[in-house]
Amino acid sequence: MRKKVIAGNWKMYNDIPASVNLISELKKSLSGQEIKADVIICPPFTSLDTAKTLIEGSVIKLGAQNMYFEENGAYTGEISASMLKSAGCEFVILGHSERRTIFLENDQLINKKIKKALSSALKPIFCVGETLQQRESGTTESVIKTQVTEGLSGVSAEDLKKIIIAYEPVWAIGTGKTASPDQAQEVHKFIRTLVEKLYSKEAADEIIIQYGGSVKPENASLLLSQPDVDGALVGGACLKAESFFSIIKAA
Ligand code: PGA
Repeated sequence: MRKKVIAGNWKMYNDIPASVNLISELKKSLSGQEIKADVIICPPFTSLDTAKTLIEGSVIKLGAQNMYFEENGAYTGEISASMLKSAGCEFVILGHSERRTIFLENDQLINKKIKKALSSALKPIFCVGETLQQRESGTTESVIKTQVTEGLSGVSAEDLKKIIIAYEPVWAIGTGKTASPDQAQEVHKFIRTLVEKLYSKEAADEIIIQYGGSVKPENASLLLSQPDVDGALVGGACLKAESFFSIIKAA
C-alpha cells in the first residue's frame, strides 16, 4: 500500500511572521491527531530556516519550491540544492507549471534540476501537466509522456524511488476548476503505466503520484479515493491551516 502524501505549495505567499502564524496553527491542528499521511510544507525560501525550527518534533516535513542545478557560482538570484539541504529541506518542487510558463523552464532544464536534487539527497516533487488547449486538442497523453520521459531521462531505478510525481493539469491550477476524479485517475493510471514501461512493474507500483489543481476540503476525499491518486499538491487551500488540515484528514 502506498502511503498518501499531502504537500502544501505556498507559492509566493507569506513573509516570515505570516509563516510563523501558519505553521503554528497547523501544528495546533495536527497535535494529538492520528495522521496517516505524510505532510510536507513548501514555504518561500526566506521562511525555510524559520520553518525548519518550528516543525521540529512535529510530523511536518519541509520542502522548497525550486532550485538551480549548479553546485554554486555566479548565478544571481538562484538557490542551490546544498543551500536547501542546509535550510532543512527534504523535498523540492521541480517543474511546476508556473516555472514552466512564467520562467520558461523546459524539460531539459527540469531534468538537470531533478538529477542535481537527487545527487544532493533532496527528493524531487516533479510536476507535469497539460494546458487546456492541449487537453482540448486531444494531446494530453503525448504531452505528459514527453514531460515524464524527458524529466526522468538518466534517472536510475534506485533514484526513482525518491521521486514523487505530481500531475497538475495547468487548467486546474488556481482556477477553481478541478479535474474530475475520473479525469485525474485516467492520467494517473497513464503515468503509472508509463513508469512501468520506462522502469519496471515494481517501480510503477511504488511511485507516489499526487494530484494538484484546485484541491480543496470539498473535493479532496473523492480525488484521493481514486486507486492511482496517492496524495495531493495543494496551492490555495494550504494557505489556511484549517483547510489544509481538512485535506490531510481526508487522506
Ligand atoms: P492550487 O495550486 O491548489 O491553488 O490550484 C496547486 C499548485 O499549483 O500546486
